[in-house]
Amino acid sequence: MAYTAPRGTVDILPDKSSQWMRLEQLIRTICANYNVKEMRTPIFEHTELFNRAVGDTTDVVTKEMYTFNDKKGRSITLRPEGTAGICRAYVENKMYANAEKLTKVYYLGPMFRYERPQHGRQRQFHQFGVEMLGVESPYVDVECMLMAVTLVETLGIKDITLHINSLGDDESRDAYRKALQDHFRPFLGELCHDCQERFDKNPLRILDCKVDAKHEAMKSAPRTIDYLSENAKAHFDKVCELLDVLGVDYVIDTNLVRGLDYYSHTVFEVISDDPKLGAGATVGGGGRYNGLVEELGGPSTPGIGFAFGMERLLIALEDQATSDDEGIDAYIMPLGDQARDMALQLATVLRANGFTIDMDYVGRGLKGQFKSADRFKAALNIIIGDEEVEGGYVQVRNKKTREQAKVNVDEIVDYMIKYFEG
Ligand code: HAM
Repeated sequence: MAYTAPRGTVDILPDKSSQWMRLEQLIRTICANYNVKEMRTPIFEHTELFNRAVGDTTDVVTKEMYTFNDKKGRSITLRPEGTAGICRAYVENKMYANAEKLTKVYYLGPMFRYERPQHGRQRQFHQFGVEMLGVESPYVDVECMLMAVTLVETLGIKDITLHINSLGDDESRDAYRKALQDHFRPFLGELCHDCQERFDKNPLRILDCKVDAKHEAMKSAPRTIDYLSENAKAHFDKVCELLDVLGVDYVIDTNLVRGLDYYSHTVFEVISDDPKLGAGATVGGGGRYNGLVEELGGPSTPGIGFAFGMERLLIALEDQATSDDEGIDAYIMPLGDQARDMALQLATVLRANGFTIDMDYVGRGLKGQFKSADRFKAALNIIIGDEEVEGGYVQVRNKKTREQAKVNVDEIVDYMIKYFEG
């Protein structure tokens, strides 16, 4: 039987991993600039956490979760997103008691959603996410959005627009919920079975129904920003004002409601029109979730965050594919069994001194070994034959100048240090 990776999963092969590492490095640098620390939570959690946090009328919870019973019959789910786990850990580890009121964390890692795989959509995918907990200020909303925008700008991804909207506070959402029910009531019989259920439980979810997306009632549905309470409106106005002051381009997208239930106030998405992704693809999104920590048993704590799909960022970056994949410092080329023993010792010493080294293990002739050295973009070739073993020295060949030097084995580390310093 031929084994294949499960549908919707992808192997990241060595020729792609340098792009991933470059992206991860850039993310870590931006997070350090914003003084955001990494946090790692489990890849699986109790199913109840996601039902509660993400919401049991969302597509993610009802259709897309990888849920199974463990050997003791407990229901476990592979995380479909990162915010729920971070908030669970925030409460469990009493991080709200930190001396610093604003807790800023980021995470990178695999997430799992049972969706129809397509370009930029997988069943195991990776997210980079940021969560900022403890402070409700619009300044924090803006800091969060700035981080998201900085990331795509630094990566050089083009045709990007920041879409923002506000879902308001509890008072606004109660008013909006009622307006939505009044609006959809006359069309109820024409909507899909799921939407009929959503109508009572959570009418907001009707707006991101994939089945009824083209129904005329969708286009004329009421807008959240027309139902904002005074407080919610003031918060949103301040967010917009700060973005204006900073010169950050955005559009107010009154259709933006996001697909997860925990949001309140500001929501946003970074949308790309890069044809490689397909027009209007969401590369990242997030928003405020002021009720979530309390919902999970913690003290009332405001929060805001976002997450990017890392595969989508990398697709957008494909043009800039890294040919800057760095080469190794030296490739050691032994000719004969004795030379191979010496090569292995030399490789060990050089690696211990911080050099990137590889060598031939298969006893090929010089031609084959030079080919490997070229593939690894070795700056130096270190050649060892019987004569060299006898004499306790090696031949070091400089790839660029093609010069060759005889170097004593005892002096090779110093030689390499001098060469790379120069
Ligand atoms: P989300 O919008 O569900 O939000 O996902 C964020 C991003 O993850 C999406 O914009 C997309 O780029 C990527 N993504 C989602 N599903 C897939 C998939 N099947 N394949 C590839 N990429 C995918 C959240 O997950 C929230 N936790 C974001 C957040 C953090 N809100 C507040 N804090």
